[in-house]
Amino acid sequence: MEGIEAPVSPVLARTRAELDAARASLGGRVAIVMTMGALHEGHATLFRRARERYDSVIATIFLNPLQFGAGEDLDAYPRTLDADLALCAREGVDVVFAPTPDVVYPGGEPGVTIRAGRLGEILEGAIRPGHFDGVLTVVAKLLHLTRPDAALFGQKDAQQLVLIRRLVRDLDFGVDVVGVPTVREPDGLAMSSRNAYLSPSERPVALGLARALRAGAGRSAKGPDAVRRAAGDVLAGEPGCRVDYLVLVDTVTLAEVPEGFRGEALLAVAARVGTTRLIDNVLVTVGQGADVP
Ligand code: PAJ
Repeated sequence: MEGIEAPVSPVLARTRAELDAARASLGGRVAIVMTMGALHEGHATLFRRARERYDSVIATIFLNPLQFGAGEDLDAYPRTLDADLALCAREGVDVVFAPTPDVVYPGGEPGVTIRAGRLGEILEGAIRPGHFDGVLTVVAKLLHLTRPDAALFGQKDAQQLVLIRRLVRDLDFGVDVVGVPTVREPDGLAMSSRNAYLSPSERPVALGLARALRAGAGRSAKGPDAVRRAAGDVLAGEPGCRVDYLVLVDTVTLAEVPEGFRGEALLAVAARVGTTRLIDNVLVTVGQGADVP
C-alpha cells in the first residue's frame, strides 16, 4: 500500500558472535537503549528518540539477575519476548541483543564488579542493597559489548540515571548519556513493567504517587518545605500507599535540598501498593517567584 511501509524486522542477536556481526553492519552514529523487556510506551519513546537523533539503534533486552536481591521479583518479572520484538520492529530498531545470563556472565557471577558507592546506598539503594552495583555492572558490560556513541535512559529511574552519568564520567566511558522524560498513562501513572502487577482495586491507589508529585510541584514557588509538605499530605491521605521515601533532593548529589534552596530539584517517591513496589519523580524548579501567595 502506498505510503505504508511494513516494518523491517530488527536483527536478533542472542550470542556475542551474532552481536559482533550485527554491530559491524551498523553505520553512522549508534545509540543504545537498554531494557529488561516487558516493553511499553516508555521504552518505545526511548527507541523513538534514539531513532530521531542517531543513525542506528541497538536495543538490549536482558533481565539482569545481578540487580535483583533475594526475595525480589526476578522470577515473577513479566517475560514477553515476542511482543517486545514486534515493538522493536515497529519503532525501527536495527539490532536487538537479547542474551541469556550465561552469555552476559559466561563465568557465572562476576568476581570484579562496579561499585556504585555512596550514591548507590541511599534512597532506592537503601531499600535494595547492591541493586545499583548490579545495574552499573551490566550497563558497563553492555556498553563494552555494543560500543555505542550514545545511551538513552529514562528519567523515570532518576537515581539510576544519576548513577549512570557518574559511571560514564568517573570511569571515562566516552559515551553520551541522554535522559528522556517520564512517559505516563493518560491518568498520570508513570508507565512501568511492574504496573502489570497492580490489581484493578490497587490501580487508583497507585495514582497517589503521581498526585503527590503534582501537588508538591504545584507548591514549588513556596520553597522546599512547602513542596515536601504538599506531597506528603497527599500520600498521608492514601493509606494504601506504604511510603518508603519521599524526598526533595539535589539532582546531582541526591542530598536533601535545604530550606531557602532555589533552582532545580528532584521530588522523588517510592511506595508499595499491595505487593507492588512503585517509584516516580518529577523535576521541580523550587523557589522561583517565591512572593506568589
Ligand atoms: P527497564 O526497567 O526495562 O527500563 C529500561 C529503560 O526504560 C530505562 O532507561 C528506564 O528508565 C526507561 N523507562 C522505563 N519506564 C519509563 C517511562 N515510563 N518513561 C520513560 N522511560 C522509562 O532500567 C532498567 O530496565 C535496567 O535497570 C537496565 C538499565 C536495563 C539495566 O539492567
